[in-house]
This record gives sequence, C-alpha cells and structure tokens, in this order.
Amino acid sequence: MTEIKASTGPRYARILSVGSATPSRVIDNEYLLQFIDSSDEWITQRTGIRERRWIDEGESIETLSLEAARTAIERSGVPVDQIDAVILSTISHYHQTPALAPKLADALGIPDAAAYDISAACAGFSYGLAQAEGMVRSGQARHVLVIAGETISEITDLTDRGTAFLFGDGAGAVVVGPSETNGIGPVVWGSDGSQSGAIWQTKGWQEAVAEGTWPRLGMDGRAVFKWATSFIAQAAKKAMDEAGITPDQLDVFIPHQANDRITDTLLRYLKLPESVVVARTIRQLGNNSAATIPMAMDALLSSGEAKSGQTALIIGFGAGLVYAGQVITLP
Ligand code: ACO
Repeated sequence: MTEIKASTGPRYARILSVGSATPSRVIDNEYLLQFIDSSDEWITQRTGIRERRWIDEGESIETLSLEAARTAIERSGVPVDQIDAVILSTISHYHQTPALAPKLADALGIPDAAAYDISAACAGFSYGLAQAEGMVRSGQARHVLVIAGETISEITDLTDRGTAFLFGDGAGAVVVGPSETNGIGPVVWGSDGSQSGAIWQTKGWQEAVAEGTWPRLGMDGRAVFKWATSFIAQAAKKAMDEAGITPDQLDVFIPHQANDRITDTLLRYLKLPESVVVARTIRQLGNNSAATIPMAMDALLSSGEAKSGQTALIIGFGAGLVYAGQVITLP
C-alpha cells in the first residue's frame, strides 16, 4: 500500500486574542411594549435583560463580523498571511450561498484561506472553536480565525411575547494558534434533533417566497429552559471533568446568555465558588446567539473583571437542539 503523508502540527493550541462589535441602536424594554403585552419588570425579572442592541442603517452581520475580526487579528499580532482558515458561525446570514466567510476573509486581506460558515445557533462559537483547535493541532492550519456574528433582530417577531425581547445583535471573534501549554480543553458537544421543533425558523425560503412574507424565529421557551437547566448543567460539568478541572480551579464562567435564571441554575448545579467571575452580558446585550460567548469574553477582559491567563468554562446551547462547551485559558 502506498504510504500517504499525514499532516502534523503543534501539541497544543490556545485562543491568542478576542475582539467584539456591537451595533449602535440601543433598544430598551420600554420600546418593545408598543408591540407586546408585557412590562419592563416582567422582562427584567424573568430574563435579566434590560436592553439589547439592534443593527441600524449601514450596519449588518458583515460590518459587525469585520469589526470584531479586525480587532481580534490586531490584538493577536498574527500576520494575515499566517491565517489559514476562517470559520463564521451564524444563523443570520440570510443568503443560502455563497457562504459569508470567504467574503470576510477577502475583506480582511487574508489570502487563500479555507473559509466556510457553520450553523450551530447559540452553540456555534464552541463548535467553531473545537474545529479550530483540531485544525491547529493537526497541522491543517497555522492559525484559524473564528468569527461568530448574528443579527437575529432581522427575524425577530416583534409581536411574539415569547421572543420579541430576547435577542440582541453583535459579533465576536478569536484567533486560535499554537501554544506551549494547552489552552483549549476537550470539547463536550452533541445534539438532540428530536427537539428540532423547540427553536425554529417559522418557514423555509420556498414557502416564504411563495407567500411573500419574511420568516421569523419561533421558540418553545419552556422546553428550552427545561433542557438547559437539566441536560446542559450536566454537559457543563462534563466539560470540566474532561479538562481535569475542579470548581475551585475555575476563575471565570461564561455560559450562553439565554436567561439569567438559567445561569443561576447552572451555578447552583456546578457548585462554583463565589470567587468565580460570571458573565451577565445578557442584561445589556440580550441573547446574541453564536456571538454571545466571545462578546462576553471580550467584555469581561476589557472591563478588567477577568484577566488574561485565567481559566474559564464556556458552554453554548440552542437551536438544533445543539450544545458545546470547553474549558479554556483566556487570551
Ligand atoms: N410579558 C409578560 N408576561 C408574559 C410574557 C411577556 N413577554 N410572556 C409570557 N408571559 C406570561 C405567560 O402568559 C405566563 O402567564 P401565566 O402564568 O398567567 O400563564 C407566564 O408569563 C409564564 O410564561 P412562560 O412562557 O412560562 O414564561 P417563562 O418564565 O418560561 O419565560 C422565556 C419565557 C423568558 C422565553 C424563558 O422560557 C426562556 O428564557 N427560555 C429559554 C430561552 C433559550 O434559552 N433560548 C435558547 C437559545 S435561542 C437560539 O438558539 C437562537
């Protein structure tokens, strides 16, 4: 049998840098009350959300993704010709083809990179990070740019009491590269397609075209809440176990920002010490789907609440249903 050379790479990978971008339009709870029968008090108490940001004229998933990516690349110090792959995680690029990642790579001046989009909703950043870690460690890419960008406001049904207030737009990006020590633990991920009806696009493109109406995002909030507070709690624990980390060794916890009450339940289940810094960006940014985790990471590092080199647990979950989490070293 003819021997085929295999790619080989460095032993370890880590996140070298993070960047994020938020749109300019601030939407407070009060604004939404013209569309839904609700109150600022209900939204704040049931979710933690006080305001979120939505794109305005001139802003798009493309502009947000580019801004986040440019910041991450600049902070990494990695020359663009050493980035061999660009992954965009999104469920809000409303063109079936081509993927947006090649266009972003071109706009960023990254030559000849493998570039593609992935659709794993709110778990999308951790899915992309797992792929990037594998690519770097196998030698298939020297550096990988993982971007997560979302503009869910474009498919939000303003008249739906169950979702109108939940989502915010934004983007986050990281550069993943080789490392002397391990900075990305084993991914714990999976899916449960039997619950594909828990979060969904209300109609396919063919149906939308035939009806002349734009699709919206639908969600069975109670079902997702139940799944997140039971199954996802166990998955988060498994991510720590697989990384060989105990709660007292953790500095930062960045769960998907879906609901402050889900975060509280995860904290109780994981028995994390009070000293652990917990991301609560949902209060100002809402749920940013795939972009949530890198946006929260950047916010915590920029505010000084978290520090470079600290150990963090990240976990995302959402439409699919899908989930993914890892223990990481903060850039
Ligand atoms: N304002 C005021 N009252 C409301 C509203 C509203 N907007 N919506 C519902 N209510 C009322 C209901 O009528 C009900 O009243 P009742 O008790 O008199 O019957 C009560 O509030 C409770 O309703 P629930 O639907 O049980 O509300 P819940 O507490 O579950 O909160 C929420 C809803 C916030 C959506 C919650 O279920 C949730 O956060 N779910 C998880 C969302 C999530 O994690 N999504 C995953 C990611 S999304 C992605 O992948 C793209």
